[in-house]
Amino acid sequence: MRKITIAIDGYSSTGKSTVAKQLADYLGYVYVDTGAMYRAITLYAIRAGIITAEALDKDHLIAALPEITVAFHYDSDSGTSQVLLNGERVGSAIRTLEVSEHVSPVAAIPEVRKKLVAIQHRMGQEGGIVMDGRDIGTVVFPNAELKIFMTADAAERAKRRYLELKARGDDITYDEVYENVTERDRIDTTRADSPLVKAADAIEIDNTETNLEDQFHTILQLAKDRIAGRV
Ligand code: DC
Repeated sequence: MRKITIAIDGYSSTGKSTVAKQLADYLGYVYVDTGAMYRAITLYAIRAGIITAEALDKDHLIAALPEITVAFHYDSDSGTSQVLLNGERVGSAIRTLEVSEHVSPVAAIPEVRKKLVAIQHRMGQEGGIVMDGRDIGTVVFPNAELKIFMTADAAERAKRRYLELKARGDDITYDEVYENVTERDRIDTTRADSPLVKAADAIEIDNTETNLEDQFHTILQLAKDRIAGRV
């Protein structure tokens, strides 16, 4: 059976990674969370003092890029993959509000995007991939057979992210999370390089009120149609 490329783009906290992971598991495809790659570079910059509470030193970060490696490690026991920053597993360290607060300006730097898009191209060369992000259907794989664009009401997205962070014990308020989600939307949609926009041929799914099970089945059916060449 032919292996297709599935691009899932959309706003922050719309559940892109959940559905992308489910699809990849079901189809036996590789799942790539490209947001984790931008987060890993942001974590590096925070640790190296390139990002402080006041500023991001872009030139310093661009100069440091050759020293940064971003890759994925697949753990066959759990069936999940984790992002590696210079060989270190940082899957959990990249999910803090601090990283979320700094990642969008980092992702707006063209040199950072160029480095990560090259890695993404290599990972998706053979098809059989589900990749989620902001520019997958527009820039990384403009010829993807299936493109999904996910949206949901910002207050609902902030609520979901807030509950997730609270559940793991983070000390945050709903207002901080709401502010972060909407500020990231603003930066991600207005940056000059590869802004978040819906590709002309993407299928838009608003999941403000959809249950995740139904959403998965809708997208799975779309994927099966593409794999069978029915569309
Ligand atoms: O999906 P996420 O919230 O983990 O993504 C983190 C940030 O990375 C997001 O605010 C924008 C950026 N990003 C991007 O610019 N391009 C991608 N393909 C994926 C993420």
